Amino acid sequence: MKNILTVITILILCFPVLLTGQHHIIPTPVSYESAEGELILDEHFNIGLLTENDVLKKHAEVFRSDLEDIGFNSGIHASDSASAKELKIGLNETPVEALGSEGYQLLVEQEGMVLMANEEAGIFNGLQTIRQLLPVKRGVNSEGKKDPVKIATCIINDYPRFEWRGLMLDVSRHFFTVQEVKAYLDMMAKYKFNVFHWHLTDDEGWRIEIKTFPKLTEVGAWRVERHGRFGANRASPKKSEKATYGGFYTQDEIRDVVAYAADRNITIVPEIDVPGHSMALLAAYPQYSTKKEFKFVNPGAKFAEWYSGGKFEMLIENTLNPADPAVYAFLDMIFDEIAKLFPGEYIHMGGDECYKGYWEADEKVQAFMTKNGIKDSHELQSYFVKRVEKIISSKGKKMIGWDEILEGGLAEGAAVMSWRGMKGGIEAAGMGHKVVMSPTDFAYLDYTQGDYSVENKIYADLSLEKSYSFDPVPEFILDPELILGGQGNLWTEVIPNLPYAFYMTYPRGMALAESLWSPKENKSWKNFLDRTEVHFKRFDEMEINIAKTIYEPHVKVYKEGNKLMCALKNDFEDIEMYYTIDNTYPVKFGHKYTEPFEVPKGDLSLRVQSFRNGQPIERLLQIHRTDLELRVK
Ligand code: ACM
Repeated sequence: MKNILTVITILILCFPVLLTGQHHIIPTPVSYESAEGELILDEHFNIGLLTENDVLKKHAEVFRSDLEDIGFNSGIHASDSASAKELKIGLNETPVEALGSEGYQLLVEQEGMVLMANEEAGIFNGLQTIRQLLPVKRGVNSEGKKDPVKIATCIINDYPRFEWRGLMLDVSRHFFTVQEVKAYLDMMAKYKFNVFHWHLTDDEGWRIEIKTFPKLTEVGAWRVERHGRFGANRASPKKSEKATYGGFYTQDEIRDVVAYAADRNITIVPEIDVPGHSMALLAAYPQYSTKKEFKFVNPGAKFAEWYSGGKFEMLIENTLNPADPAVYAFLDMIFDEIAKLFPGEYIHMGGDECYKGYWEADEKVQAFMTKNGIKDSHELQSYFVKRVEKIISSKGKKMIGWDEILEGGLAEGAAVMSWRGMKGGIEAAGMGHKVVMSPTDFAYLDYTQGDYSVENKIYADLSLEKSYSFDPVPEFILDPELILGGQGNLWTEVIPNLPYAFYMTYPRGMALAESLWSPKENKSWKNFLDRTEVHFKRFDEMEINIAKTIYEPHVKVYKEGNKLMCALKNDFEDIEMYYTIDNTYPVKFGHKYTEPFEVPKGDLSLRVQSFRNGQPIERLLQIHRTDLELRVK
């Protein structure tokens, strides 16, 4: 069959006038040009395969079931370029260089659609774009007939800016079932994320079956049940208590999830977090610590002191013993099983927040350091990391770890995930290592995104606008090619269920998706906000609750002399804010916000809400004056 691109070229030439058009696709494509006209779809909307290919067939099958959800009765068949109104899918016989492996070209015209790519991944991404051009659900008219679907005619050329577009899910602090993980992957695929970093182990639970060491899950996957905030208010386990909370994935389940992700163009990067964050492992096998003491899987009780300047102390040993050869033999067998389960290129070895106090206090560790010429505990961590890197590369995989793995020198070939800002990533790239940027200040999805009075507050904030401003390539980097991309991280200390995981991930995940996929020059905060509003409606129709805190007032308090002043801000020009400061409501009958105001002294609360077209939008914030005082910096 002749190259369908010729067909596309002819069709483009036949197109009336092409204009840069308005659309609501997230992440925004490299180019979107529209012309007058619409493709109108009713009952029959078939998928025609221009290329005979099993993966394409599978993608088409997944897409057909999406179409069924919208109310189309679609068939899949082999197609030549001349058949009826349908979606034609095919691979380019001569690759189009600019598209790379994940890009695609989509033509929507009145007679049908054509989606072409160099590789299957490109087709998958193109299908996600088409999915966004279609409604979530179809309306039904008064005679019970489904409304036709109209798509504006357009030509889209699209490919990603970065090869690593990741999200991390912590399943240790909260255990998410296979079904829940799949739901999380489904949503990632819609926004063209292609790396799922699965944080499988931590102090609060070991979540993956390792056949050689069954106690890792028999013991390490279970903790005593505690509720409420992680930390000081959660009691430590008592000896008499049963560990009933938790769970783990069997190896069959892992293989199932890996395949499910692959069908959605997502590679899984498993993380086994060592030498720190290992309390669940040590609850099962205490012999791999220095003190070899019995310990529990932590139920979220406080066991660390955090000091300024990033310093900390672990009050219970949660580190492996780097001077014990048995530790490396143990890790070798674990990584052997991990490498066989996950076909991706990388294995993540953690390496973050490793407390060195127990190493420094242990005579045998000290003797080991003297014997091996290791001058301090940072070099000892580096020794550990290099040995783990050797283990991982012996399994045919590349190692990646959090930026602490740079301390004391890093093995050649290892990649760095920069989380304590971008500086670790810059340093690593300067040394020739590949880097994934996931800095707290742009990419930590567990950080609070709205007002403390209505949010499940943690120790830091991250607004949608800040996430949207994420650029993984720092200005003065010598070799930008070393930046593989970026990643958002969802730690789950304050996230006890899937609906809340979605609430915390989106819309900031959409902002990150656009920062990782779209050309920098195509990004526009205002335009992103408009498109985000369309996606809010789509999430509503899917009955998935995501954060709409951008509609809510941003409350800022400050002192002017003795006066407590309050300023309100909002992301939208057409949103008005009304407030009261005399304990009355409804606020609509209070004051319309125009300028900063004084909060008088007394036992009173600020009540404030956003309104659009006279209607209240999102939550009423109610903050007592005492809390406002506490917010003054
Ligand atoms: C991390 O947030 N400890 C990587």
